[in-house]
Amino acid sequence: MGVLDKIIDAIVNLVVFIWDNTCAILNVVIPKLEPGHVVPKGAPGHGQKWPPYVPPKADDSRSACPMLNAMANHGILPHDGKNISFQELNTKIRQTYNFAPSFCFFVPRFAAGFLNKSYFNDRFELEELSMHSEKAIEHDASLTRHDVALVPDQGKPDQRLVLDLLKTATGKCPDGSPQMTIPDLSRALSRRRADARKSNRAYSESFFHNLFGSANSATMLTIFGGRIDDLKPMLMEERFSDNWEPRILDRFGLTMAKFNFTVIPVERGVDPKKFQ
Ligand code: HEM
Ligand SMILES: *[C@@H]1O[C@H](CO)[C@@H](O)[C@H](O)[C@H]1NC(C)=O
Ligand SMILES: *[C@@H]1O[C@H](CO)[C@@H](O)[C@H](O)[C@H]1NC(C)=O
Ligand SMILES: *[C@@H]1O[C@H](CO)[C@@H](O)[C@H](O)[C@H]1NC(C)=O
Repeated sequence: MGVLDKIIDAIVNLVVFIWDNTCAILNVVIPKLEPGHVVPKGAPGHGQKWPPYVPPKADDSRSACPMLNAMANHGILPHDGKNISFQELNTKIRQTYNFAPSFCFFVPRFAAGFLNKSYFNDRFELEELSMHSEKAIEHDASLTRHDVALVPDQGKPDQRLVLDLLKTATGKCPDGSPQMTIPDLSRALSRRRADARKSNRAYSESFFHNLFGSANSATMLTIFGGRIDDLKPMLMEERFSDNWEPRILDRFGLTMAKFNFTVIPVERGVDPKKFQ
C-alpha cells in the first residue's frame, strides 16, 4: 500500500468511527424497534418470513462464515455464492442481521482490501472470503471449522464441533430454552485454541486474529441473543430457523461501539491453559 492509500485508509477509518459512535448515540435516544418488526419492509425476512432454504450444491461457492452462507442458502445472496458486489453485501447484511450501517460498510470494505479489490467496482465469490492470511479474517481455532491446514474446504461446518459448542450453553432464555452466555463462549474459544494448537502443526494465532475470532463468535450472543434453538439450525445447516429475526432492536442496528461491550469480555475470558 502506498503512502497516499494509507492516508486515505486512516481518514476512512476515522469517518467510520465517528459515524458508528453517532449511530450508537442515536440508538439511545430514538425508540427501539418492535419485536417482530426488525427486518425492514421489502427485505427478505420481513415479517419473519424467510425465503426457502435450499442446501448448497456441489459447485456453489461458500465461505468460512456461517451467517453469510445462510444468506446464500436462502437466496438472499445469489444461491451459487458468486458474482456478489461489496455494496450488495453491505445492504443485505444490514437488512438481514440489523448491524449498524457503519459496521456493514467497514467489514465488506475490509474484505475488498485484503482481496486487493475495489469496494465500489469489483465483485467476489463467497469462497474468496476464506483467504487464510494475517491480513484477512479466516483464522485457526474457529468454533465451527477445523483449521484450514487440516480441512482445506472451509465452506462447510463440522457437525461434531458445532454439537460440542451448542452443548456448552449454561444459560436459560425467559421461556426456559437454553442460552449461550459470555463465559460459555470464552470457554468454547479456550478449548478450541488449546485443541487446535495440539492438533495442527501449522497453528498460528495473533492478537488481531483472536479479537476477530471473538468478534465473529460474539454475534451468536448479540444478533442471535445466545438462543440455542436459533443457533442450532444456523450452525449445523446454515439455515434460518422459522420466524427468526435479529435480536437487536436498536433502530440504527448493532454498532461496533456497543458490540465491543460483548467482544472484549469474551476475549478477556479466554484462557486456553485450562484445556492443555
Ligand atoms: C461482510 C461481512 C462478513 C464477512 C466478510 C465475514 C467473514 C467471515 C470469515 C472469513 C469468517 C471465518 C473466520 C474463521 O476462521 O473462523 C467468519 C466467521 C464468522 N462469521 Fe462472518 N463475515 C461477515 C459477516 C458476518 C455477520 C453479519 C455475522 C453474523 C450475523 C457473522 C458471523 C460469523 C460467525 C459466528 C463466525 C464464526 C464461525 C466459527 O468460529 O467457526 N459474520 N466470517
Ligand atoms: C455479474 O452481475 C452483474 C450485475 O448483475 C452482471 O452485469 C454480470 O454480467 C454478472 N457476471 C457474471 C459473470 O455473471
Ligand atoms: C495483494 O497485493 C499485495 C501487494 O501487492 C500482495 O502482496 C498480495 O499477495 C495481494 N493479495 C491478493 C489476494 O492478490
Ligand atoms: C472497539 O474495540 C476495538 C479494539 O479494541 C477498537 O479498535 C475500536 O476502536 C473500538 N470501536 C469503537 C467504535 O469503539
